[in-house]
Amino acid sequence: MANQTTSLAKENIKIVLLEGIHPSAEEVFREDGYSNIFTAPKSLPQDELKEVLADANFLGIRSRTQVTKELLSFAPKLSAIGCFCIGTNQVDLDAATQRGIPVFNAPFANTRSVAELVLAEIILLLRGVPAKSAAAHRGEWNKSAINSFETRGKILGIVGYGHIGTQIGILAEGLGMRVQFFDIEKQLSLGNARPAGSFEKLLATSDVVTFHVPETEQTQNMMNQAAFEQLKEGAIVINASRGTVVDIDALDSALESGKVNGAAIDVFPTEPKSNQEEFISPLRRFDNTILTPHIGGSTKEAQVNIGIEVSEKLVKYSNNGTTLSSVNFPEVGLPELIKKHRICHIHHNEPGILAKINDVFSATGVNISAQYLQTNQLVGYVVTDIDHKSSDSAFGSLRKIEGTIKSRLLY
Ligand code: NAI
Repeated sequence: MANQTTSLAKENIKIVLLEGIHPSAEEVFREDGYSNIFTAPKSLPQDELKEVLADANFLGIRSRTQVTKELLSFAPKLSAIGCFCIGTNQVDLDAATQRGIPVFNAPFANTRSVAELVLAEIILLLRGVPAKSAAAHRGEWNKSAINSFETRGKILGIVGYGHIGTQIGILAEGLGMRVQFFDIEKQLSLGNARPAGSFEKLLATSDVVTFHVPETEQTQNMMNQAAFEQLKEGAIVINASRGTVVDIDALDSALESGKVNGAAIDVFPTEPKSNQEEFISPLRRFDNTILTPHIGGSTKEAQVNIGIEVSEKLVKYSNNGTTLSSVNFPEVGLPELIKKHRICHIHHNEPGILAKINDVFSATGVNISAQYLQTNQLVGYVVTDIDHKSSDSAFGSLRKIEGTIKSRLLY
């Protein structure tokens, strides 16, 4: 039978926050009146997880907790899941959708952290600091101005002019760099940045090329041998986007030949699964590379922001049903609920259900003040604001509609 809930008192809504999610998340819940909060510093073993989820309404995880279809069947009251990180592939998204559970994440909370790291790398690599520092650690004194440059006036080529790319452009202009970008979508130029015209033109004319694209078929090995050949002699290459974007063997050859004068790589085709595993890469032999263990977005500030961003999304969904920016659910942005009752109805995406829902409202004489509908391939989400006097009977009838997954009455 479909899972039905009416508005619960906030203190009765159980929130489970695992894996040491930053306390900023708990603060957001408490400030909004939620007090039944279970926290754990690590991921839990399966049996404990099942026990804790048996009466949980909201679940917050980071990347270690695997939320499988089987696990979800042990969480009958679960309303939504928050991934307090960027990725969501630790959750079986289809299974969550089919159980009427929206999943939220924080895709942009660490944008600034990545931008700052890249900015630092641009300065250090243009000055040749990584190589000089590595030599000094070995006792070598390389006092020289050869291949050492200021950032001022240099051309920065940004590939992927999205959230991170645009921020880097603004910060780099503050240093006096001239910024150009290449993006497959038409993007608004910020500051004095200008479109490069094509990827090839960007490669041929930039002193520093930095990648901020998603992982797609098109971006797979985008920086390959042919691309290195088109690169300006002695340019610097930075990748803090995805490990598939730069062909490491091609970069290795370009560093070897001196075509590339330095590189900073934060993401790799294969990365160690834990801090105990050795990091293997041909690039380790080059002093003029900055190799970082996928920490572009890993700062205290980003953790705080992630805690706030995801918990705010969960609180909003709990309070008024908004699913905006959910990764698996039809996105419905809803106004605040004032002096109305709101019925949120989640159903399998089958033809005729909206008509049946509205039949219930007309049969029960309910006056609809607003209705919102979105569907995706698997589910439909219909939110109806109605006159509060008649909400109980309508809500009762809605549960009988075939195809209903979940419904909530909010007031
Ligand atoms: P975004 O989605 O805001 O921007 C990506 C941009 O790339 C978009 O403007 C898009 O149109 C463009 N793009 C897509 N395909 C392209 C192509 N073939 N050629 C040129 N442009 C293309 O993403 P955001 O937030 O700026 O992130 C960028 C990358 O950084 C993502 O891959 C993300 O996973 C990664 N990232 C890495 C972190 C780290 O720790 N190193 C932390 C955060 C994000």
